[in-house]
Amino acid sequence: MDDYEFLEPFDRLVTIKICGADRKVPENNSILRGLQFLDIENISYGDFCWNGECLNCQVWIKSGDKEKAVIACRANVEEGMEIVRMSEGMEIS
Ligand code: FES
Repeated sequence: MDDYEFLEPFDRLVTIKICGADRKVPENNSILRGLQFLDIENISYGDFCWNGECLNCQVWIKSGDKEKAVIACRANVEEGMEIVRMSEGMEIS
Protein backbone atom coordinates (compact mmCIF):
# COMPACT_ATOMS: atom_id res chain seq x y z
CA MET A 1 0.00 0.00 0.00
CA ASP A 2 3.05 2.29 -0.09
CA ASP A 3 1.85 3.75 -3.35
CA TYR A 4 -1.25 4.99 -1.59
CA GLU A 5 0.21 6.96 1.28
CA PHE A 6 -2.21 9.78 0.54
CA LEU A 7 -5.16 7.64 1.67
CA GLU A 8 -6.66 7.18 5.10
CA PRO A 9 -6.23 3.60 6.33
CA PHE A 10 -8.77 1.23 4.80
CA ASP A 11 -9.50 -2.48 4.87
CA ARG A 12 -11.56 -2.86 1.77
CA LEU A 13 -12.84 -1.23 -1.36
CA VAL A 14 -16.46 -0.22 -1.75
CA THR A 15 -18.34 -0.01 -5.02
CA ILE A 16 -19.73 3.33 -6.10
CA LYS A 17 -21.16 4.42 -9.42
CA ILE A 18 -19.45 7.25 -11.25
CA CYS A 19 -21.39 8.64 -14.20
CA GLY A 20 -22.96 5.23 -14.82
CA ALA A 21 -19.87 3.06 -14.30
CA ASP A 22 -19.21 0.87 -11.26
CA ARG A 23 -15.84 1.69 -9.70
CA LYS A 24 -14.13 0.41 -6.56
CA VAL A 25 -12.68 2.94 -4.15
CA PRO A 26 -11.20 2.70 -0.65
CA GLU A 27 -13.64 2.95 2.23
CA ASN A 28 -13.00 5.47 4.99
CA ASN A 29 -11.81 8.04 2.47
CA SER A 30 -13.27 11.14 0.86
CA ILE A 31 -14.80 10.98 -2.59
CA LEU A 32 -11.91 13.09 -3.91
CA ARG A 33 -9.36 10.63 -2.48
CA GLY A 34 -11.34 7.85 -4.13
CA LEU A 35 -11.09 9.63 -7.47
CA GLN A 36 -7.38 10.16 -6.89
CA PHE A 37 -7.03 6.44 -6.20
CA LEU A 38 -8.67 5.77 -9.58
CA ASP A 39 -6.70 8.37 -11.53
CA ILE A 40 -3.73 9.54 -9.55
CA GLU A 41 -2.34 11.77 -12.27
CA ASN A 42 -5.38 13.85 -13.15
CA ILE A 43 -6.57 14.38 -9.60
CA SER A 44 -3.16 14.91 -8.00
CA TYR A 45 -2.27 17.63 -10.48
CA GLY A 46 -5.76 19.10 -10.59
CA ASP A 47 -6.72 22.50 -9.23
CA PHE A 48 -7.87 21.36 -5.80
CA CYS A 49 -7.33 22.91 -2.37
CA TRP A 50 -8.28 19.68 -0.56
CA ASN A 51 -9.71 21.60 2.38
CA GLY A 52 -13.20 22.71 1.47
CA GLU A 53 -12.40 26.20 0.20
CA CYS A 54 -12.14 26.21 -3.60
CA LEU A 55 -15.32 24.23 -4.36
CA ASN A 56 -13.63 22.90 -7.52
CA CYS A 57 -14.38 19.38 -6.34
CA GLN A 58 -18.15 19.62 -6.30
CA VAL A 59 -19.99 16.47 -7.42
CA TRP A 60 -23.67 15.63 -7.54
CA ILE A 61 -24.88 12.42 -6.00
CA LYS A 62 -28.19 10.71 -6.42
CA SER A 63 -30.41 11.19 -3.42
CA GLY A 64 -33.78 9.53 -3.94
CA ASP A 65 -35.31 11.16 -7.02
CA LYS A 66 -33.09 14.20 -6.69
CA GLU A 67 -29.46 15.18 -7.05
CA LYS A 68 -27.54 16.57 -4.13
CA ALA A 69 -24.37 18.62 -4.49
CA VAL A 70 -21.52 17.60 -2.21
CA ILE A 71 -17.94 18.73 -1.74
CA ALA A 72 -15.89 15.70 -2.70
CA CYS A 73 -12.94 16.51 -0.45
CA ARG A 74 -15.26 16.76 2.54
CA ALA A 75 -17.69 13.87 1.99
CA ASN A 76 -16.67 10.25 2.43
CA VAL A 77 -17.51 7.51 -0.01
CA GLU A 78 -20.33 5.15 0.88
CA GLU A 79 -21.07 1.75 -0.60
CA GLY A 80 -23.60 2.13 -3.41
CA MET A 81 -23.18 5.90 -3.70
CA GLU A 82 -24.06 7.19 -7.15
CA ILE A 83 -22.21 10.18 -8.54
CA VAL A 84 -24.21 11.50 -11.47
CA ARG A 85 -22.22 14.62 -12.36
CA MET A 86 -18.84 16.10 -11.55
CA SER A 87 -17.35 19.58 -11.84
CA GLU A 88 -15.12 20.42 -14.75
CA GLY A 89 -11.54 19.28 -14.20
CA MET A 90 -12.54 16.14 -12.33
CA GLU A 91 -12.42 13.81 -15.30
CA ILE A 92 -10.90 10.45 -14.48
CA SER A 93 -9.85 7.67 -16.80
S1 FES B 1 -10.79 20.55 -3.28
FE1 FES B 1 -11.24 22.59 -2.79
S2 FES B 1 -13.18 22.42 -1.88
FE2 FES B 1 -12.65 20.36 -2.28
